[in-house]
Formats: sequence, C-alpha cells, structure tokens
Amino acid sequence: MSKKRSILLGVTGSIAAYKAAELAREFSRQGVEVRVMMTPAATRFVSPLTFEALLTIPVITDIFNNSTVGPIPHVSLSADVDAILIAPASADAIARIAHGLADDIVSCTTLAFDGPVLIAPAMHHKMYLNVATQANIAILRERGVTVIGPESGELASGGHGAGRLSPVETIIGCTLKTLGKSGDLACRTVVVTAGGTQEPIDPVRCITNRSSGKMGYAIAEACRDRGASVVLISAPTALPPPPGIQIHGVRTAQEMFEATQAAVQHAEVLIMAAAVADYRPATPAHQKIKKGDESLTIELERTVDILGSLQGELLRVGFAAESSDLERNARAKLSAKGLDLIVANDITATDAGFNSESNRVTIIDRDGAVERLPLLPKREVADRVLDRVVQLLS
Ligand code: CTP
Repeated sequence: MSKKRSILLGVTGSIAAYKAAELAREFSRQGVEVRVMMTPAATRFVSPLTFEALLTIPVITDIFNNSTVGPIPHVSLSADVDAILIAPASADAIARIAHGLADDIVSCTTLAFDGPVLIAPAMHHKMYLNVATQANIAILRERGVTVIGPESGELASGGHGAGRLSPVETIIGCTLKTLGKSGDLACRTVVVTAGGTQEPIDPVRCITNRSSGKMGYAIAEACRDRGASVVLISAPTALPPPPGIQIHGVRTAQEMFEATQAAVQHAEVLIMAAAVADYRPATPAHQKIKKGDESLTIELERTVDILGSLQGELLRVGFAAESSDLERNARAKLSAKGLDLIVANDITATDAGFNSESNRVTIIDRDGAVERLPLLPKREVADRVLDRVVQLLS
C-alpha cells in the first residue's frame, strides 16, 4: 500500500461540472492523488483555475499544450495513474469515447489509456434516454467501463428524470473500490464493527461508552482501499458514512449481534472494533423514569459476547481496551475467545485511544507473536492490523 493511489479526472461539458471541484477535493482528502483534464466545453461551465487553486496542480485543457506534462499530453497525463474517471460525462463525451474519437484531451487520453475507466453521466433526461446515448453507454459497459449512475430527480436543465450526476460520495466510493481491485484483500468480504453500543434504561436514557468509532471506521476504509467488500456494522457515531462501504446502523449489543451474525455468513474476516456493552438494564422502562427522593437502583444483565459466540470458518480479530497489565489481559482475551489476532491499547494514555486521531497498539496473534507499534494515525494502525490479517489469511 506504499504507492499513493492516483486518478485522472476528466471533466466534460455539463452543468454538473462544478461538482467535479468537490469531487477532486474529496479524492485528495481520501489520500488519492488527482490530476485534471477538461474539455473546452467544460471550461465554459467551470474555470480550470478552480481546480488549480484547489489542488495546486496544472489542469490540462488542450491536446496540443505540451508545456506542463511533456511533449505528448494525452499519453504522459495518464502514464502512471491507476484509473480515469470522467465526471460529469456529457452525452457528447460518452459518444466520443464509445466511438474512439480523439479530438479533445479527454477522449484522446482515454483512448490512449489501457487501465480502468469510470464514467458518471450527467445530462438532460431526454438526452440520457435517447437510444443513441443508451447504445453508447451499452458499448462502454460491454468494454468494461464502470458506469456510475445517473440518478433520477430534478434536473438543472429543467424537467425531472434520470440524468442527475450521482452524489459525490457514490462516485468516490465506486472509484475507491475500483482502485482497490488489485489490493491484497481483493475478493474478500470483511465485516467490521465500530462505535459504542447504547443500552436503553428508558425511552430517553441509555448506558453507553466513550468510543468514537474512529478506529473501526479507519479499519473499514482501509479494507475497502485494499479491495475487500466491506460490511460496517456501526453503533451510533458522529462520523459520516464512509463511501463505498455497506453500512448497517445498530444501537444495542443485541442488534449488533444479530446484524453481525447475518453478515459473517458471507464473510472471511470479522474485525470487532466496537465497544460493546457487557451489561444492559435487565428491564428497560417503557415510560421515562421520573425522579424521586430515593436513590435509584438499575439491575443489569449480561449482553451476548458477539466475538465469543461467532465461531466457524472465520478469521476473528478482537480489540482489548486495557487500563493495566495490557499484554497479559489481551492474551487472556485472545485465548478465552479463541481469536486469531487481538489489538490491545492502553486507555489511560492521554495521546491515544478514545476519540483521538491516533492510537498506540500492541498486536498479539494466535501463535503468541507480539508486535508493539508506536503512536500512529488510526488509518496507519488499521493498515498494520490488516497486514497481519492478510498474512494469517494466506
Ligand atoms: N465484544 C463482543 N461482545 C461483547 C463485548 C465485547 O464481541 N458483548 C468484543 C469487543 O468488540 C472487542 C472484544 O470483544 O473486540 C473485547 O473483549 P472483552 O472481553 O469484552 O473486553 P472488555 O469489554 O474490555 O472486557 P473487560 O471489561 O473484561 O476488560
């Protein structure tokens, strides 16, 4: 995973061209290097300067402009990118690419590229539904081009119907999945749990914990970027849903158990990063509990141990949040739950763990091998854990 993933974003003449700027920015946020090429028509809708200011890279608009990317722009532009994404793809751009025309920088570069190509059509619904456009899209699909959307809805050009550019997060998700196809988790299905469960006391109160879900979400994103199909089972968090990941929202430990049990039927790996409540109120009140002068006692009962009860042909990774005897306690959990790997962290550390962007963990595997990692961003911790998962799978 050391080489930075890169895409070449082709922007063509559609009113949705302004959304390409948001797309480019989001790719950068996701750690993907972006280059931009625009058709002359696209530059009428949005200025190349917008992308240059956002990404501080030159934008290529001219097939004969060789000053910034070398003598043959349509070849050098895509020389080392992992995919071309054309978003928005106008009816005209789709037709040109389907028929192998090469008289603008986007169609010419796409014709000279033999890697994965994705298009996100955006146009008036009558243009989209025209048999010519439908036939051109069918040709591209048949040649292995990934077609993202379009969505139905109100159109900027007037009317209502299919032709809206897919949402930025959908386009990002599809592209990241394509970029991950050659990753070391390609063709694997991984179930990841995240966040802290909430166990109701009454309709407005619950028992929960301080888990932010950041570690679990980072693992889910790292799995996606390494090519896995990811099912993220998430207790409530403040995090946005990661693009390209199937997400199931749950609240209680019991709901998480049921969702996880169903999801692992089709998975090879389960990574339980969620902070699952070990106890829940035995009889949650149906009405809001009113205060009184007396003290209040709430009886708690054990929840199901999700990781401990899901066995079988499944590589299982647990997390251990410890405040003392880190390695000894983590080893005990590894063996009690029959895990393949346990990731332990010291919750008393002030610079790591709950709600922090970084974590300092120790990974112990089923053979007892111990790897103590330094303080790292959660995304890097996720990749180090997945390096071990990949080793164990092979
Ligand atoms: N876990 C689970 N089901 C539960 C509780 C925890 O699957 N009901 C999972 C967690 O997601 C985590 C691992 O088990 O991966 C943690 O093990 P556990 O023994 O529950 O850890 P703690 O709750 O920290 O245990 P203790 O309070 O005894 O330290």
